[in-house]
Amino acid sequence: MVYTIEQVKALVREFADFPSKGILFRDIFPIFREPAAVECLVSHFVERIQATGKQVDVVVGLDARGFLLGPLIALRLGVAFAPVRKGGKLPGSVARVTYQKEYGEDVFEMQADAVTKGQQVVIVDDLLATGGSCGAAEELVHKLEGVVVLDAFIIRLAGLEGDKRLRAPVYALMEC
Ligand code: PRP
Ligand code: HPA
Repeated sequence: MVYTIEQVKALVREFADFPSKGILFRDIFPIFREPAAVECLVSHFVERIQATGKQVDVVVGLDARGFLLGPLIALRLGVAFAPVRKGGKLPGSVARVTYQKEYGEDVFEMQADAVTKGQQVVIVDDLLATGGSCGAAEELVHKLEGVVVLDAFIIRLAGLEGDKRLRAPVYALMEC
């Protein structure tokens, strides 16, 4: 089967009251059960990134679901992939930021040599909610003297205005 991007979007499922009561959780994993859907999704993101006209040197994926799509996009673009991980998971010298989550704080880190001065970066994640996670990732890239040219998501939760907390342009495949 060859998927259209609308058919890929239709694979995203909703789970009420997960991980806690009152939260409607959007689950992207059904996309990854269908290789042809992944193929369509990756091609779509690569086209959107190329349409910016910006040179891209590094794709940065956010812990944990940004690791699904990020390396596939990087491979297709022929550029590096670098992870942003939750605190204490990466060896060697790291850049570190503390950011605000819905309840309390969390820490994100990147290896200090993952992005070099002047490199152009696309940040990839499954979902933009408040923008706290991606904003922290932008800050890490800036600490390493990189430039974020695009923040790309499968889903943007409308109403939370997460993109207002971000400095780079935002692309989301779908709004929920
Ligand atoms: C989720 C999601 C994004 C982030 C979005 O990850 O995958 O990374 O929240 O929320 P925000 O825009 O309000 O920051 P989570 O922090 O739950 O981590 P996980 O991928 O390890 O489950
Ligand atoms: N799905 C995945 N991650 C999330 C969600 C969601 O609906 N909301 C906040 N983080």
